[in-house]
Amino acid sequence: MTPEVHVISHPLIQHKLTIMRRKETSTASFRRLLSEVSLLLGYEVTRDLPLVMEEIETPLAPMQAPLLEGKKILIVSILRAGTGILDGLLQLMPSARVGHLGLYRDPATLQPVEYYFKIPEDITERAVIVVDPMLATGHSAAAAVERIKARKPRNIKFLCLLAAPEGLAYFHKHHPDTPVYTAAVDEYLNDHGYIVPGLGDAGDRIFGTK
Ligand code: URA
Repeated sequence: MTPEVHVISHPLIQHKLTIMRRKETSTASFRRLLSEVSLLLGYEVTRDLPLVMEEIETPLAPMQAPLLEGKKILIVSILRAGTGILDGLLQLMPSARVGHLGLYRDPATLQPVEYYFKIPEDITERAVIVVDPMLATGHSAAAAVERIKARKPRNIKFLCLLAAPEGLAYFHKHHPDTPVYTAAVDEYLNDHGYIVPGLGDAGDRIFGTK
């Protein structure tokens, strides 16, 4: 199986991403742009959602019309930066269900350790989108997807803003069947685990913590 990587090259996304990358972009602008870009990425990531035809009545006539099939989508945000993407996706899909997964990196083992996990009990009929702006080492993303796959969702995708080639390789080594959607794949991951050229620390830029 060839792992799927979808780089969404829409001009509006690319333009907004460039403004987000600039170091002088303010917290308020960064947050707003991430929300806007997420909405546009969300449009692509949901492109293959199945539809069912239902009988409805317009003011003029009955007709068969398409509606989304099955249960509402579940968006799982990896804390804390996933919140920035969640916001835009919820504008697109206000009825989506939302889960949260908190992971920190153990300083000794460098492995992700879970400190929070809350998603709906039964997700067997739901499509899941896991979101985190930066697919850097890929460790958190892979751990998150593994955790959610254990609950047997209908299907699962990973959505980020930027990916490093190293992170994509790690992620797809563990989850070759999980498509990744991103606005760009950057050059490399530096020794501190930052994507280069990247945009810095996404969480700090969203929340203004630095
Ligand atoms: N997380 C970030 O916020 N930025 C990076 O470049 C890598 C991981």
